[in-house]
Amino acid sequence: MPANMNTYKIAVLAGDGIGPEVMEEALRVLDAVEQKFAFRTERTACYVGGAAIDHCGKALPAETLAACEAADAILFGSVGGPKWDSLPPNERPERGALLPLRKHFSLYANLRPGICLPELLDASPVKNSLIPGGFDILCVRELTGGMYFGEPKFYGEREGETVALDTLFYKRSEVERIAHVAFQAAMGRSKRLCSVDKANVLASSVMWREVMNDIAPQYPEVQLTHMYVDNAAMQLVRNPQQFDVMVTENTFGDILTDEMAVICGSLGMLPSASLSNGSGECFFGLYEPSGGSAPDIAGQGIANPVAQILSMGMMLRYSCRETAAADAVDAAVRRVIAAGYRTGDLATGAPGEIRVGTRGMGDAIIAAL
Ligand code: IPM
Ligand code: MG
Repeated sequence: MPANMNTYKIAVLAGDGIGPEVMEEALRVLDAVEQKFAFRTERTACYVGGAAIDHCGKALPAETLAACEAADAILFGSVGGPKWDSLPPNERPERGALLPLRKHFSLYANLRPGICLPELLDASPVKNSLIPGGFDILCVRELTGGMYFGEPKFYGEREGETVALDTLFYKRSEVERIAHVAFQAAMGRSKRLCSVDKANVLASSVMWREVMNDIAPQYPEVQLTHMYVDNAAMQLVRNPQQFDVMVTENTFGDILTDEMAVICGSLGMLPSASLSNGSGECFFGLYEPSGGSAPDIAGQGIANPVAQILSMGMMLRYSCRETAAADAVDAAVRRVIAAGYRTGDLATGAPGEIRVGTRGMGDAIIAAL
């Protein structure tokens, strides 16, 4: 390969459940992309989650963290499963690996695109008549603050009974930086931004709303609106087409993005990017499917690899700035869906559907590239 060809170091953390099998397809698609575009990746595979507990005794081993530190980006599969559910909460794959990774690398900006393709309307639980032509939402979720990490956190005995405490804490600067990410995302789309909060009850939300309003004049072209989170949850199933970019705090974002994912047709379609501040145009990031490890279907070769493949595409877009390659991945997925290829989660039995497994979907996407 030419000496001047861009090379990116990727830490590959496939994890548990369907993680390894969908990751295999994402890496095969990445191989095909590298054949077409002038860049290469150097990949280091590492244990994470339950697999790491089994092999190394903890969910996020030091070697894995070191490989992530040496990398330009982390491509993440999924972690967790019934095998590890009886461990103490802090040692479980989710809290023992994913949350520490987010905190360690300050991955505060979680971008979750929710796209319901017109061909997948029938897979959405929302009535077709409410979403003619599908929809395209981007949820910007704050990922390193709020109740997930707020101190004090406590579970124990006080005054003769069991009590538990979580703290919803935000610094103004934390809200400001996610606001900028959201406004910038809105600038690149339809210039509509809906900030979701609970400012009628929560002090943290009062500040959140103030910060959004204070930042807004820096983006005069963006139309900013506010919505209470209970209403947003309702509006998402009633009329998702009203949204373009949404921005919200960590816990609200966790809940709303699961809702957003399912109304798109399948959890198996949605990628995500968790970004920290980058140098110049390139962000350090962790890229993972929005769905979980799906232990019930793991190892059967039937899981939908699209979310993992699109997550790899987001990695090319944000951490590598290989925009043409990222566009090619997105376009190949759309072409394959339009051609009728369906894994089990997407199938509705409609005429023209081509039923495929994990490998078949990967093959179709590679062919479409
Ligand atoms: C997500 C997940 C995680 C979260 C869990 C696995 C800790 O639900 O990424 O949405 O709550 O953030
Ligand atoms: Mg979640």
